[in-house]
Amino acid sequence: MCGIVAAVTQRNIADFLIDSIKKLEYRGYDSSGLAVIDNKNNIIRIRCVGKVNELIKKTNKKKILGNIGVAHTRWATHGKVSKENTHPHISSNIIVVHNGIIENNSVLRLFLQKKGYIFSSDTDTEVIAHLLHWEQNKKKDSLKKVIQNSIKQLDGNYSMVVMDKNNPSKLIAARSGSPLIIGLGIEENFIASDQIALLHVTKRFIYLEEGDIAIVKKKEINIFNKDNFFIKRKEIISNTEYKSVKKGKYRHYMEKEIYEQPTSILNTLKNRLKNKNKVYFSELALEANDVFYNTENIQIVACGTSYNAAMVAKHWFESLANIPCDVEIASEFSSRKLTVRKKSLLITLSQSGETADTLLALRYSKKLGYLGNLTICNMESSSLVKESDFYILTKAGLEIGVASTKSFTTQLTVLLMLVAKIINLKKENNNISQKIVQTLNLLPMRIEKILKKNYIIKSVANILANKKNMLYLGRGNQYPIAMEGALKLKEIAYIHAEAYPSGELKHGPLALIDKNIPVIMIAPKNSLLEKNKKNIKEICSRGGLIYVFSDQEFDHEDNMNVIKLPYVEELIAPIFYIIPLQLLAYYIALKKGKEIDQPRHLAKSVTVE
Ligand code: G6P
Repeated sequence: MCGIVAAVTQRNIADFLIDSIKKLEYRGYDSSGLAVIDNKNNIIRIRCVGKVNELIKKTNKKKILGNIGVAHTRWATHGKVSKENTHPHISSNIIVVHNGIIENNSVLRLFLQKKGYIFSSDTDTEVIAHLLHWEQNKKKDSLKKVIQNSIKQLDGNYSMVVMDKNNPSKLIAARSGSPLIIGLGIEENFIASDQIALLHVTKRFIYLEEGDIAIVKKKEINIFNKDNFFIKRKEIISNTEYKSVKKGKYRHYMEKEIYEQPTSILNTLKNRLKNKNKVYFSELALEANDVFYNTENIQIVACGTSYNAAMVAKHWFESLANIPCDVEIASEFSSRKLTVRKKSLLITLSQSGETADTLLALRYSKKLGYLGNLTICNMESSSLVKESDFYILTKAGLEIGVASTKSFTTQLTVLLMLVAKIINLKKENNNISQKIVQTLNLLPMRIEKILKKNYIIKSVANILANKKNMLYLGRGNQYPIAMEGALKLKEIAYIHAEAYPSGELKHGPLALIDKNIPVIMIAPKNSLLEKNKKNIKEICSRGGLIYVFSDQEFDHEDNMNVIKLPYVEELIAPIFYIIPLQLLAYYIALKKGKEIDQPRHLAKSVTVE
């Protein structure tokens, strides 16, 4: 969580810092701040509570002339949202921005207080700043040595950038737990948590590895690994287009990302479906084929929306490929003693590839005797990709809206392709893999069609916008779609929504049914339709208000509304049915005037446990 940018530049540093930190707002947006060492060697610090726009307003009022600085956007962990707790934190000449959590911060705080340090915030970051200052003044070592001595005393994650007023020609970046990227310029260099923040100034990047420390100057970068050996890290040229980060004609990134789904799915499928039933992932190492061939069980771990996608995949792996598949929330997976099933493949699923819970689950799984591990991820340069045996990219493109949309549908697309690939490798039932390949080719067009029905969903949204609670129901592989629909509504419209398997209604939630709690039911034509119809009757006969999303006709009941959707093949129906639910949440949030792209208290990339 939290976003960091820093730079030693030829250009006006303040403008660069605010332009760049604005692009990292998705990592947290409780408060933001910057610090610059100006041309007269003064530290100028500006901090404000609220979105980065507040920081921009405040910074624009000042004339700051300097070439070295750091900035930060915060997602509060230690200490409430307040100006005092906002980064950068300063201890005399030392200035720090930090992303992570220092678990032993209370012990260190006491120690430093005894040494005479006075704290002005409740944060663990201020502990780092004072500790660095204390270490620097003990032995007068170089700043790099001071940082190395200090991080030995820190438990937890400490990705940070440090600036020293007494030596304003360099920045020091230390990576632990969350990403730090160096952007290479011409006689200027940049640091950020994500390349998005730097794409307007460079396309050349170096990704720091866990434990790396980098000394970044205008004309020189020196990197040392966790064992303090000087190391050359590979330079990569990003092919991400800066323009793809803009909203274009849309009001929100989320709206843009919903409507982009036919294209993002096309990109996900491109060059990967071959010869009627063959699936090919160019990034997947050849050895993966052996692992997949020998796989008898699958365990998927993920969080949030990615978890919901995994739940759909469970149905596909079991019903299409006959492979038992378990799915677990990543934080739960690594919190317990596990028994690993025989010949089991571990799959992590993540948009960002930086979710701390998922990353920890992967690391934990390595001690447990899985056959191998695979990550399905949207970010090629992410920690999950780097640390996994194998990876497949979802190719959704950059997703900026905190609530995931195109990541979800591209994850499902990849998962269904993977099912076909495994069926092929095991030479089980080629008809099924052929059917999957054929049907996936139709998916972008099916989604185009449903997006054109947006006006129907908008009218339902206008009716439901004032509701306080909603129930989402689905059966089989549509139950996870109900979960994802409810999650979208909670995230962006702040309406309490719960998802249940339709059959579970009678075991409790039926007691809630009245006309004030609308029920959203997903009931497409499939073998479960008749059971769903019975549930509809149970709701209607108790005076409930129900909205049925289906391609079918239904007998009329009081308070029953059918949202008639276009036909879709059963195989891809879960990917299709989430679209109207994404739109529903979006239009409800729009009607309520909510901050759709940056819902309160949330962040897109959750790099803390
Ligand atoms: C956060 C985001 C969610 C996302 C989840 C998992 O909670 O707000 O939208 O689904 O993290 O993220 P991942 O990057 O691992 O898919």
